[in-house]
Amino acid sequence: MTADLWHAVARSRDLRRKPIRVRFGGKPVALFRNGTGVSALHDQCPHRLVPLSDGRVVGDTIECPYHGWRFSGDGTCVDMPGTVEALPRCRVPRYRVLEAEGGIFLSSGQPPAPPVIHPLQGQDIVSQVVKSTTRSTLVDVAENILDATHTHYTHKGLLRGLSAKRYRVQVEVTRGPDWVEAVYTGEERQHGLVSALLDGSRTKGVGRYRRPGIAELEYWGPRGMVLATTFHLRQTDAETVEGIGWLSAPRQHGLGHLKALFFKPMFRVALEQDRRVLASALENGRGSTRMIGPLDILRREIELIEAGQTLTPGVQHYEMEI
Ligand code: FES
Ligand SMILES: [Fe+2]
Repeated sequence: MTADLWHAVARSRDLRRKPIRVRFGGKPVALFRNGTGVSALHDQCPHRLVPLSDGRVVGDTIECPYHGWRFSGDGTCVDMPGTVEALPRCRVPRYRVLEAEGGIFLSSGQPPAPPVIHPLQGQDIVSQVVKSTTRSTLVDVAENILDATHTHYTHKGLLRGLSAKRYRVQVEVTRGPDWVEAVYTGEERQHGLVSALLDGSRTKGVGRYRRPGIAELEYWGPRGMVLATTFHLRQTDAETVEGIGWLSAPRQHGLGHLKALFFKPMFRVALEQDRRVLASALENGRGSTRMIGPLDILRREIELIEAGQTLTPGVQHYEMEI
């Protein structure tokens, strides 16, 4: 958990009139909408410690369901019903909140800049925001998203054709201080259902991991990027990873609305297949060490970035059949 960065914790549409609880940095946080935007408070009333997220929003405040104490968006207690004397000083810890592109982001520090949410941010796009919960670890989920070698098996027929045909590709892996990126070129068009939705041929594919917990894929055609999927991941307990994901495409020459409609259910199927295989790996692998295979080209970097280390920038080339 990096204090001075923004972490995606919910979709905008998950938060309406009722407060919700999310987990952030191992702690429960109550999110609620007030007149000015979204507020985020430690989800525990200081009085008898019940969840504030079980309460309701009244004006600009959140009201505790037990004795009705009310807290403003900055965490100050502004009402203790029945109290005739001056209120004692009382405050709940609060988090910085930012809402953008259909997502809600939290920080426990003071981020110097807004988050880079997805690669097509600020352009004329169609986008969908999805949410997923996986029984796994952040490193395993990030690697799974960026792993081009499991699709033949885990997603047979969906992301690939039913044939076992593989294509030889060149991969350039570039490391930055807190990110790593693999650029795949040379692959012909994939033959699965998902690739049938992508217009024309694919010129390159990019998989990238960047802090904090962001795994993203880009598909490029001759006229530029046609599709990007960006998952903002966070470990919510030792064996659970939550992700807020953006599927985005340029409105004109990417996936139009119609195609996006078809794409989403398939994306859901792929997500479910990944969730299943990751959960089985978790259940079956407790206490054992895993082997890093020759094609696991991003695993070590993902682990180091996740551990908060700074990478030595550099470039490496690989060839493989995927
Ligand atoms: S427990 Fe919240 S007001 Fe008493
Ligand atoms: Fe997958």
